[in-house]
Amino acid sequence: MDHKVLVRLARLAKKHSYSPYSRFRVGAALLARSGKVYTGCNIENSSYGLTVCAERTAIFKAVSEGVRGFSAIAIATDEDRGTPPCGACRQVLLDLAGDIEVIMVGRKGPATVTTMSELLPLPFGATHLVKE
Ligand code: THU
Repeated sequence: MDHKVLVRLARLAKKHSYSPYSRFRVGAALLARSGKVYTGCNIENSSYGLTVCAERTAIFKAVSEGVRGFSAIAIATDEDRGTPPCGACRQVLLDLAGDIEVIMVGRKGPATVTTMSELLPLPFGATHLVKE
């Protein structure tokens, strides 16, 4: 799928952002290997720490529907330039989606394109838990 399409879907998902406390809207669009896209937005809570980021909303939606293979995620914010995913989302994305492509966009171009392994070097993962 074209990056442009995934970016458009991330920007659309951003419209659903529930962020009355930070007023920082984030949208994500996660591309499954099947070609299906799972979108998410950040959902804040009056008990601030219970907030869920857009990226985790998207991947939890997908995994909860039985999807386990992914190829890319687009992340959209209202900043001038794209903003990278937080540390918690990096861990969750690498763990569940592997070394996928990450496309970050703000309101202005160009997009920043990188990979999960670049965003999270020397990761903790399942291999550290499984013995024998
Ligand atoms: N946020 C995301 O949705 N994704 C990130 O990777 C960074 C932060 C959200 C959480 C919170 O609702 C707001 O942005 C400000 O931190």
